[in-house]
Amino acid sequence: MSLHICILAAGQSTRMKSRLSKMVHPLCGKPLIWHVHATAAELQPKTLGIVVGFQRDQIMEVFNGKEVEFVVQEQQLGTAHAVQEFLKQFPSATGTLLVLSGDTPLLRVDTLRQLIDLHTREKVSVSLLTTELSNPKGYGRIVRNKASFIEKIVEEADASPEKKLIQEVNAAIYAFNIQKLREILPLVHTNNKQKEYYLPDVIELTLKKKGTVLPRLAPAEEVIGINNRLELADAARILRKRINERWMLNGVTMIDPERTYIDTEVRIGSDVVIYPNVCLEGSTMIGSDCTIYSNCRITDSYIDSQCVIYESCSVEAAHLGSGVKIGPFARLRPETVLGKGVRIGNFVELKKTSVGEGTKANHLAYLGDATIGKDVNIGAGTITCNYDGEKKHPTIIEDGVFIGSDSQLIAPVKVGKNAYVGAGSSITDDVPSGALAVARGRQVNKEGWVEKKKSKKGK
Ligand code: UD1
Ligand code: CA
Repeated sequence: MSLHICILAAGQSTRMKSRLSKMVHPLCGKPLIWHVHATAAELQPKTLGIVVGFQRDQIMEVFNGKEVEFVVQEQQLGTAHAVQEFLKQFPSATGTLLVLSGDTPLLRVDTLRQLIDLHTREKVSVSLLTTELSNPKGYGRIVRNKASFIEKIVEEADASPEKKLIQEVNAAIYAFNIQKLREILPLVHTNNKQKEYYLPDVIELTLKKKGTVLPRLAPAEEVIGINNRLELADAARILRKRINERWMLNGVTMIDPERTYIDTEVRIGSDVVIYPNVCLEGSTMIGSDCTIYSNCRITDSYIDSQCVIYESCSVEAAHLGSGVKIGPFARLRPETVLGKGVRIGNFVELKKTSVGEGTKANHLAYLGDATIGKDVNIGAGTITCNYDGEKKHPTIIEDGVFIGSDSQLIAPVKVGKNAYVGAGSSITDDVPSGALAVARGRQVNKEGWVEKKKSKKGK
């Protein structure tokens, strides 16, 4: 039995009140539609298509280069029309069509598998997921007869006050027998409050044509749809909890899991300890035995084992070797590469800079476009002056160098192996290996100057 999947994502999402398409609003670091697509792809369907229309460019961009079939629904005439457009593009498709909504990202693949298994085993025309909500507002209500068989679905806009009391709702996740669906879809009309072709109307029409419909109750947590930012925040809370529970069961300690924010694709080793208000984002990987203290944001970075990230650090697209310690208040910008055991202290900023094993920059420094060797000591207040107003220039600091405090290295410049730079120097020329460079005004002491000044005033 071949499986085809259609994800609906052409609608206007006015309730988000956003310039961004609802489908690309991020949820734990990935666009909403990405989550739905990832779950669908696990089922390895014959066709995996997304119906797009409104703001389609934003959605298509998410899947650059990925195997997705796009179906364009030029006018958003309703969910039934969207599915019809999909089937038009695949006229020879037979078997089962699983319809998902791009705004329902919390679905688990096992729930879908069970729905499809039941659907094929029972050979029904339509199977669908429903759920029970204490506040069903906004959803289509499942209307059952006295024998509690499903009769039809009534949308919120068309529901009478009594129907609005029904708490069982349509999750908008359906498995259809494709041949039967092709017969029913042309019968759907727009005789409703919203003047749209409703996909849920297929239920009543199928039953009228002596077809079979099988509703299946699913956990609300999986099937809630996201139509506004309140629902987006609710979904994020649920997904975060799932992610955090998975990592805790894998050996990660979280001091306060409700205040720990980990994106979907982050990877974490065992015996990592995470303090509150830490954000681990994008493709970040954290090796084992690391500790990350409060208020740190780590994005797209690789952190090897046994690192310590003290409070309030910002780390972006950086690579940290094992045993590195940074912060508190360190800022690592993209293309920062730190060797084993490097120590970067408070108020130190690095950009596009590589630092060799054992090197220390403990306080107040800016190191940009620099290549720094092993066992170097960078004094407090060191600045690589890498920008001349037009271009960026490199600084090279070789192994074993000592840069005295409050020095400026005016790039392009190189400090040779084991050389010393005296504190307060402005280095404009290369320093040879083994040399001491001092580049500052000489100190002048005027003996008795204060006394003289006082006696002048006294006159
Ligand atoms: C829909 C269901 C409702 C269900 C709820 C569950 C309909 C008419 N109603 O309501 O019964 O309880 O989902 O979340 O189906 N879309 C298109 N083309 C269109 C219109 C919509 O692709 O012409 C897409 C949207 O982008 C969205 C999905 O279909 O991904 C559902 O549309 P939406 O407007 O969110 O429907 P709801 O009002 O949530
Ligand atoms: Ca919706």
